[in-house]
Amino acid sequence: MIQLQQLSKDYAGIKAVVNLNLEIKKGEIFGLLGPNGAGKTTTIRMLTMLTKPSGGKAFINGYEITRDLFDVKKEIGVVPQHMNLDIEMTTWENLELHGRLHKMPKDDRRKRIQELLDYVELSDRAGDLVGKLSGGMRRRLMIARALMHYPHVLFLDEPTVGLDPQTRRRIWDLIRRMNNDGMTVLLTTHYIEEAEMLCHRVGIMDRGQLIALGTPEELKKRVGEVVVESLNQGGTEYKFFADREQALKYVGSFKQNVIIRESNLEDVFVELTGRKVGD
Ligand SMILES: Nc1ncnc2c1ncn2[C@@H]1O[C@H](COP(=O)(O)OP(=O)(O)O)[C@@H](O)[C@H]1O
Ligand SMILES: [Mg+2]
Repeated sequence: MIQLQQLSKDYAGIKAVVNLNLEIKKGEIFGLLGPNGAGKTTTIRMLTMLTKPSGGKAFINGYEITRDLFDVKKEIGVVPQHMNLDIEMTTWENLELHGRLHKMPKDDRRKRIQELLDYVELSDRAGDLVGKLSGGMRRRLMIARALMHYPHVLFLDEPTVGLDPQTRRRIWDLIRRMNNDGMTVLLTTHYIEEAEMLCHRVGIMDRGQLIALGTPEELKKRVGEVVVESLNQGGTEYKFFADREQALKYVGSFKQNVIIRESNLEDVFVELTGRKVGD
């Protein structure tokens, strides 16, 4: 559904994205995970035609992003990281505007708006100004707006940044529900948990490059599924093992200041880069 071939972007000497090769299948929830500045947003901006690639190619459902603009526009829905709803318009009017921009006929628009407000549980807020909605509601409205014109692929840039844990889970549920209904999803995140809980496959990005790719399980297996953290004078030392039994064998007699736990995608990132995603 999404194909990237050597996709690259330079900003006056800064290599924001470097030779990205990637294929995302129909029906996947795919996550680009990486620290700030990794190139996640730039990748999404190229795929959604907000900025031109400096090199390489990309296809959405077979349409080339720099050539088949109108076809690509029909295929994709976009939820940007920053709120870009019109706060002086109502919930309904924001959707109405999007439907008009996509030249949807009036009856179709009305039906679709009702359906989507129901879907994202905002029907009772249809007449409220966006300025009066909470952060979570605005995010849901942005998702509804992205879905208005029946796209096949949805791009979400940091879909839960700044939301409280409960609201975050609600957005996750919504993303899963859309995916169950057939939507292919590409999202970016710097939240380890979000990538692990939500994504079928994850691409780890760092400094513009894809440094690892696989299911969360595969990626964790690569470093070792069990971690021993031992605290010593130099700080915390991490050792990885295939299973708990081997970890326990290693720990053996020195049980003080030792934590044994399952590995996560943060560990994968640290192992690959020597840094933390949050650094
Ligand atoms: N419009 C721009 N002009 C110049 N540099 C940019 C621009 N957008 C992004 N960058 C740079 O490109 C790199 C990748 O940024 P970005 O794609 O926003 O990363 P992420 O979304 O992973 O945090 C960063 O070094 C950033 O400063
Ligand atoms: Mg970003």
